[in-house]
Amino acid sequence: MKIARALVTGGAGFIGSHVVERLLADGVAVVVFDNFSTGYLRNLAAVAGHANLSVVEGDTLDRGALADAMQGADAVFHLQANADVRGGMHHTRADLEQNTIATWNVCEAARLAGACTLVFASSATVYGEPAVFPTPEDVPLVQTSLYGASKLAGEAMMQAYAEYFGLRSLVFRFVSCIGPRYSHGVVVDFLRKLRADPARLEILGDGAQRKSFLDVRDTVAGVFMALERSTERKAVYNLGHQDSVDVLTVARLVTEELGLAGVRLEPTGGVRGWLGDSPVVQLDTTRIRALGWAPVIPLEVALRETVRDLVRREAEPAN
Ligand SMILES: NC(=O)c1ccc[n+]([C@@H]2O[C@H](COP(=O)([O-])OP(=O)(O)OC[C@H]3O[C@@H](n4cnc5c(N)ncnc54)[C@H](O)[C@@H]3O)[C@@H](O)[C@H]2O)c1
Repeated sequence: MKIARALVTGGAGFIGSHVVERLLADGVAVVVFDNFSTGYLRNLAAVAGHANLSVVEGDTLDRGALADAMQGADAVFHLQANADVRGGMHHTRADLEQNTIATWNVCEAARLAGACTLVFASSATVYGEPAVFPTPEDVPLVQTSLYGASKLAGEAMMQAYAEYFGLRSLVFRFVSCIGPRYSHGVVVDFLRKLRADPARLEILGDGAQRKSFLDVRDTVAGVFMALERSTERKAVYNLGHQDSVDVLTVARLVTEELGLAGVRLEPTGGVRGWLGDSPVVQLDTTRIRALGWAPVIPLEVALRETVRDLVRREAEPAN
């Protein structure tokens, strides 16, 4: 079904802003719904003033505002979340409110607005510490973080709404996304630490954690390919690169891109960086590849470009 009007929660965020650009390029009218807690108008600079774009400052916990903004939308891309995976240990209510309840609000508003398509940004975190690598979508899911648990609850909500009300629900489990406008995660942590002290770099865990990443442009290409080509009404897709890289290598790439030599790498030890960290993330992407998707940006290129983009943006005013 062709989408004419879409609402994007978290549309001013890192991944959301790329989704917005893609929708506008496809001729879709777009409403960005964002409270600007971790998102920025500058993320939408490339499409500012676009005739088909409107930006609503609002909170997904405000159901009235969400329902108003969703009027006339036939698709909802739910990218808003508390994306602070580590924070759940200290703020035990945040994931429930910002991810699970907010996702229910989005589903309910979509139902009332008559939107037919729901797209949900879930996460590889829902796998916790799986026993199978690469990890396919249908392994048992045992949670190791409140973030993962709240994302899994969000997936379930999407599927139940799809079942009850005949909506289409596409859920995507992203690995860590990197690329232009990247804002949180290991690369940004390393950059901040090195700016504070260019002689040494603390690495959470033993640095041997092995992760798949994915450039956000490949991520968004996967989402839209599934929208166009999937014939399923309710589907879950892994989205990740077939290659992976260990955290020590990420550290070396960051120091190289910053032109720093002789940085002392100081792993804190242990196989996890923190409780809830998955020592290995490598997803089986057979399902989405069957639709014709494959990542085109090599991981090392994406990681290096991410550092350069972060450095460029250090000089920009934050708005
Ligand atoms: N970045 C990743 O590597 C990654 C990996 C897996 C899943 N995800 C998921 O993808 C989605 C996008 O992540 P991101 O990296 O772009 O994060 P982000 O923090 O850049 O974007 C989230 C956006 O949501 C907005 N927001 C937060 N709470 C809000 C609220 N209550 N009401 C309205 N707006 C609110 C923020 O201002 C921000 O613009 C999230 O759902 C995240 O959990 C991200």
